[in-house]
Amino acid sequence: MLPFNVTNLNPRDVNQIAIIGTGVIGSGWAAHFLRQGLAVTAYDPAPEAESRLRQSIANLWPTLAKLGLKEGASQEKLTFTFDLPTAVSQAQFIQENAPERLSLKQALLAEIDATAPATAVIASSTSGYAMTDLQQNCTHHPERMVVAHPFNPPYLVPLVEVVGGEKTDPAVVDWAVAFYTAVGKKPLKMNKEIPGFIADRLQEALWREALHMVNEGMATVAEIDAAITWGPGLRWAFMGPCLTFHLAGGEGGMRYMLEHFDPELFSNWTYLDPPPITDELINTMAEGCKAEADGRSIQELEQWRDKTLIALMKALQPHQHQIE
Ligand SMILES: NC(=O)c1ccc[n+]([C@@H]2O[C@H](COP(=O)([O-])OP(=O)(O)OC[C@H]3O[C@@H](n4cnc5c(N)ncnc54)[C@H](O)[C@@H]3O)[C@@H](O)[C@H]2O)c1
Repeated sequence: MLPFNVTNLNPRDVNQIAIIGTGVIGSGWAAHFLRQGLAVTAYDPAPEAESRLRQSIANLWPTLAKLGLKEGASQEKLTFTFDLPTAVSQAQFIQENAPERLSLKQALLAEIDATAPATAVIASSTSGYAMTDLQQNCTHHPERMVVAHPFNPPYLVPLVEVVGGEKTDPAVVDWAVAFYTAVGKKPLKMNKEIPGFIADRLQEALWREALHMVNEGMATVAEIDAAITWGPGLRWAFMGPCLTFHLAGGEGGMRYMLEHFDPELFSNWTYLDPPPITDELINTMAEGCKAEADGRSIQELEQWRDKTLIALMKALQPHQHQIE
């Protein structure tokens, strides 16, 4: 077993990608990497997988062209194989997108680890499994494995949450972050492995609340969607929930907000329990908002918010209730 040395491979020099599993997410990743001018070898055991993937890439190509194709980008750079070892044999970077079943992913990743070049970095698109669990059966180079959780469709939504497991070399996490940045993604490096990662935990909290409201006849499906798309969803698109509430506190910002609106006041608004609002939590939240504000005053942030909201609403206007 050769020691894995991630520093041998410059993230900007990667040009051979293996896509393992080519359903909704795998085909989206394939489209993204092809648009970036990289060569993609895809593997999926489903008999119709190759024709389905090629058709999906062909359908997407005009959209990708509109977004802008990188130098050398071509559908011709897509190869398909029904043999897993062949798929990974030349790969410098491997993105696994098999169904979300722990035992299936553990076995698949162990096979990829055993057959891929020792220098290839392996990423899993899992929606919620920890890499520590996924890499359990990997005996060759588990230190080169990360979770890289994308958002559908990966060729459009920039975020990818990147986190390693107990056996992952932290340098590989940094390497993966540099690689995704080089290929036009917005990687979010996570320092802690938490179930559901960050974005899905947030989505899940909202989703659970929505299901409760529908279940109890408090709100309809349409009311819930309207409540987000015409309201908080617009602000979340560019400010996120923390900076949004920083401005809800007026000149006092997040600190005022948390000191005066203890979530306990709203306990009958939700099925979720808030944590105790300690001084430590208030400080962490306030300092986090201050860092994000990056020197901008509340007034400057408000002006930026209003300008961006107007631009966003104008951009959305022609597309609302319209399928092109
Ligand atoms: N759909 C989403 O919005 C979304 C978002 C983020 C992450 N994910 C994650 O991405 C992964 C793939 O999800 P999806 O939505 O594309 O599922 P999907 O069902 O659309 O695709 C899964 C593909 O894997 C193939 N497959 C089955 N067994 C396989 C094996 N042993 N090896 C390789 N491929 C195999 C299937 O034939 C299928 O084409 C999951 O881990 C999922 O949690 C999904």
